Amino acid sequence: MSRYLFDNTDARTPDRFSTLESCYDPVSRRQLELTGLAPDFRCLEVGGGGGSLGAWMGERVGPEGEVTVTDLDPRWAESRPRPPQVRLLRHDIVNDPLPGGDYDVIHARLVLLHLPERLAVLERLVAALRPGGWLLLEEFDCTWIPVLATPDEASTALFTHVQAALLAQLEKAGADVAWGRRVPAAMTRAGLTEVTATTYAESWAGGGRGIDLHRVNMEQAEAGLRGDGVTEGELRRFYALLKNPGFVINSYPLISTRGRRPGSGVGVGSGGGA
Ligand SMILES: C[S@@+](CC[C@H](N)C(=O)[O-])C[C@H]1O[C@@H](n2cnc3c(N)ncnc32)[C@H](O)[C@@H]1O
Repeated sequence: MSRYLFDNTDARTPDRFSTLESCYDPVSRRQLELTGLAPDFRCLEVGGGGGSLGAWMGERVGPEGEVTVTDLDPRWAESRPRPPQVRLLRHDIVNDPLPGGDYDVIHARLVLLHLPERLAVLERLVAALRPGGWLLLEEFDCTWIPVLATPDEASTALFTHVQAALLAQLEKAGADVAWGRRVPAAMTRAGLTEVTATTYAESWAGGGRGIDLHRVNMEQAEAGLRGDGVTEGELRRFYALLKNPGFVINSYPLISTRGRRPGSGVGVGSGGGA
């Protein structure tokens, strides 16, 4: 059973979505373009969160196309303006019947990572593609976040300690924190062809926009972190470190993997190299 750790009822959720949007939407838009996204495409955006990519896809497919954006809790996407061809749906990708089939493009970013049932979900998404349609999954490898600059070694140790505790919380909730690196093989096993992966990372300096994702995540998981022995003092020092410009880390690496359902569709979405 899914138990999404960062559920959208939390008031900090818009901070998470705006950080993801500003750091990763340009990457995701480029990856979506590589599928050949075009007017009249039928698209499914799973776990659309704040809805920025769903709205953008809607503009790209135009009035002849359609985009269905699903989320367990779509409250934050509801308030975002979107073209009429974008439909928002409260929907559980694990337990509800899929909202349609024969999709040209299905996209999900940072959703299957959280789901214990990710392999079954992947198979359902593959089955919902039209022959020749593309599945694009973009997922973090949370295990690779090198520290690029630090005021002192104690700060590096603190970051590593608190971050490890967060990953343990995610794993307890059923996440696979290294899922990003497993997607290409999982897609191939699920029968997709032309499987290609591209990884994006950037530096996140203390006080900047990207690194704030760690604050949002830790604050939302604080109760569990304390239960696992992270002290109040460690958390306070951790939050202060995230504001120190002398502390610089690698962003979470986003691994964008796309694969194509075999069959007809040659000439549509030829999706060149990354
Ligand atoms: C980390 S957020 C990512 C949001 C968005 N895809 C992005 O990258 O900005 C994960 C999203 O998946 C949604 N989600 C979690 N479990 C889900 C499920 N079983 N079915 C549909 N959506 C789910 C959450 O509600 C949340 O909006």
